[in-house]
Amino acid sequence: MLIRVTVNGLPRAADVSPAMSLLTLLRDELELTGSKNACEQGECGSCTVWLDGELVCACLVPAVQADGGEVRTVEALSHGDDLHPVQDAFLEAGAVQCGFCTPGLVVATADLLARDPHPTDDAIREALAGNLCRCTGYQKIIEAVHLAEEALA
Ligand code: FES
Ligand code: FES
Repeated sequence: MLIRVTVNGLPRAADVSPAMSLLTLLRDELELTGSKNACEQGECGSCTVWLDGELVCACLVPAVQADGGEVRTVEALSHGDDLHPVQDAFLEAGAVQCGFCTPGLVVATADLLARDPHPTDDAIREALAGNLCRCTGYQKIIEAVHLAEEALA
């Protein structure tokens, strides 16, 4: 079926099957490959995007559910080489290793800091609990969130 969705502020239309996920729509149809596909089971958070202002795992959301909605992806946060402060903070803190988890963590962190500009470590752990990282051990991610917090203050 034909769906229309606003993605990163731009109106987009796509012909989707009932089985297609929002993640497949974004990556394969709209060529927005920032959101990663690491598990496709809602377990890792690497596909995290905003749908109508709420964080979702795009791999779990049928694309048809976004019809008439508004999606924001990690691509909305940077402008060319001009990175979002959260992205800069992840690089500065050494919180990016293989990078597969990073887009989802960046989106979840940006969402957290918009809601809670000065989160405690516990609040950060809770907010990012759905985003798995196999590489960094999480301490550098928490440092990155605090660096971003300072940059955005
Ligand atoms: S790819 Fe969506 S949660 Fe892992
Ligand atoms: S940096 Fe590799 S999974 Fe997080």
